Amino acid sequence: MIVCVCNNVSDRKIRQAVDEGMVSLAELRLHLDVGTCCGKCHSCAKDIIRDHLAGEPVSLLMQMPIAA
Ligand code: FES
Repeated sequence: MIVCVCNNVSDRKIRQAVDEGMVSLAELRLHLDVGTCCGKCHSCAKDIIRDHLAGEPVSLLMQMPIAA
């Protein structure tokens, strides 16, 4: 899925960057340009970083139903 629409950055690219050692949004900004335009992707990008570091597949988390 595309996380940063402004810069066409996918969750896959973010996870790959985390695997290469980038563990903060600041680092992703420098290397992938995530969040350098409107900023609406910040929260989702941070969630992907956190979940990938924790070993949780974000795709599964996003499929979980949201309690009303
Ligand atoms: S969606 Fe990422 S900067 Fe706009």
